[in-house]
Amino acid sequence: MRQRHIKQATIEHLETMGVLTSPRILDLPKEQPIHVEIGSGKGQFITSLAHDFKDCFFIAIEMDKNVCFRIAEKKSAMQLDNLWILLTPAETLLEWFLPQTVDQIYLNFSDPWPKARHHKRRLTWPTMLEKYKVVLKKDGILQFRTDHLSFFEDSLTYLEHHFDLTEVNMALDESPYMTEYEVKKRLMGQIYQVKGLKQHD
Ligand SMILES: C[S@@+](CC[C@H](N)C(=O)[O-])C[C@H]1O[C@@H](n2cnc3c(N)ncnc32)[C@H](O)[C@@H]1O
Repeated sequence: MRQRHIKQATIEHLETMGVLTSPRILDLPKEQPIHVEIGSGKGQFITSLAHDFKDCFFIAIEMDKNVCFRIAEKKSAMQLDNLWILLTPAETLLEWFLPQTVDQIYLNFSDPWPKARHHKRRLTWPTMLEKYKVVLKKDGILQFRTDHLSFFEDSLTYLEHHFDLTEVNMALDESPYMTEYEVKKRLMGQIYQVKGLKQHD
């Protein structure tokens, strides 16, 4: 979905706000579990987690400059030292993360790409799942949440070939950790969530 244009949301300005914009292998903190959200939007979910779980380290990946700017504003206002923001498409994941360095990946309300000819653009598509499996640690977890039933059902079939499904929830309760989309979509119907544990090779 196209985001509202923000004049200050230039690469140069985002870099001055601490947003990382050119792929390089990240020197991740060794002591803290690493949690990554892909397609963070305006960042309500990941900034709330980073605020409440200071013993963990969080990374927001977002390819849209305008919404990245909103995450960076929240990070600054909330003084979150345990959050990095990457302005990059998720497809570059392996240019940022070494294998087996991430504890958990979150996909929240990713674009559903409903037309069959666009399914390969989905963030749950098998080629992306292969990348997540590379960067996740041995018992790493992928969590996917959406309001879009057919996208959810299709994603279950992609996921079950790569992950051991530990939770399939067809009516997720509200929680303190909800994205901007979740807050809106809850007014219209059910929220679905699946959690998968990385399968051992
Ligand atoms: C439907 S919005 C949901 C935003 C947020 N997760 C929420 O629930 O409010 C999808 C977001 O994913 C981002 N996105 C889509 N494809 C992406 C990709 N390949 N890499 C990184 N971000 C992506 C979009 O820019 C957009 O901000």
